Amino acid sequence: MDFLTLFAIYVVVVLTCIVLVCKYSGQQQSPFSMLLNSVVKVVAPITPKCLQRFSQWVLHRLFHQRNNMFIYLHILLETVVYAEFTYEVFGFCREMGASLTSLSVPYILLVVKNFFFYLCVKRDPGTVTKKKVAAQLHVYPYDGKLFHPGVSCQTCHLAKPARSKHCRVCNRCVQRFDHHCVWVNNCIGLKNTRYFLLYLFSLCAMAGDIALLTGDMLLHVVLWSGLLRASYVDDHGQQQPTGPLFVIQHLFLTFPRIVFMLGFLVFVFFLLAGYVLFHSYLALVNQTSNEWYKSRGYVCQHCHPTTTPDPLCSPAPDHSKRHYYSRGLLKNLGEIFFPPQAVKKKDN
Ligand SMILES: *[C@@H]1O[C@H](CO)[C@@H](O)[C@H](O)[C@H]1NC(C)=O
Ligand SMILES: [Zn+2]
Ligand SMILES: [Zn+2]
Repeated sequence: MDFLTLFAIYVVVVLTCIVLVCKYSGQQQSPFSMLLNSVVKVVAPITPKCLQRFSQWVLHRLFHQRNNMFIYLHILLETVVYAEFTYEVFGFCREMGASLTSLSVPYILLVVKNFFFYLCVKRDPGTVTKKKVAAQLHVYPYDGKLFHPGVSCQTCHLAKPARSKHCRVCNRCVQRFDHHCVWVNNCIGLKNTRYFLLYLFSLCAMAGDIALLTGDMLLHVVLWSGLLRASYVDDHGQQQPTGPLFVIQHLFLTFPRIVFMLGFLVFVFFLLAGYVLFHSYLALVNQTSNEWYKSRGYVCQHCHPTTTPDPLCSPAPDHSKRHYYSRGLLKNLGEIFFPPQAVKKKDN
């Protein structure tokens, strides 16, 4: 295979990975989902009915029902990256004199990340239950803008506490609902937002650290081989100095897997960094993604489809009071890590 074919395959695979990460990182309203929807609309008339029904079934199983598919995909990607790192990059870095301490950081991050990942997957996000709903109603006051007292869920038939929302995937109402994340197959709510944040941070650090170590290794290879000062003879028999393009091509052909992994990690890192920044911002201003969407007037996709749209789900944007929940950055953050408990108030 020549360089261009290999490079084309590489670009396509990386782009597919990016689209996957973006589309399914839990945001329902991302530009990628809109793009995908329009592609589906264009392709739909020219595909056979049975194929359409099959893909609808697959999409439904994947995104509208709880399933562990993305957890497996997650573990698979992680295993591939760590296998590649351990078998190729680790040895190279050792030979080039990198210390064991710096090379063990990715493994420590892996353990830390998996710990928070496990908590995200397993911990209850704050389900509203029949037994606890009376106490849960007192956790947050109704603001009268996005959340009104006296509304009950159409599906659970329980009163809706302020800041809660019904998750259609899990079929339950969740306190301080943020979003349903398919990567952890769980809702992110009152009790696990803290684990979700720590998980995102450690995942981002993990991708960044492996990318740095790998980039450092490739840089050493280039400097050490003297490739930058070399020259080559082109098709016309002329001496040509090697440019950056030549070096990249050389690296790609010599270490295809390592370069591939590096490209993937760099993209994942920047995507995650953006996502982490967004969620840190929300945590600091005491808002959930759900409230952020609503206060910007996005139409809520979780409204019950069979009933008339919930007027609470598509209010006019209210930019004047964007941070009305905030009580100071530190206190907001404190509330994420020590969420208020549902304690029953004595009714006289
Ligand atoms: C966060 O916002 C809710 C909104 O109802 C409020 O009750 C709570 O006190 C706020 N917390 C902080 C720390 O500002
Ligand atoms: Zn509900
Ligand atoms: Zn859910």
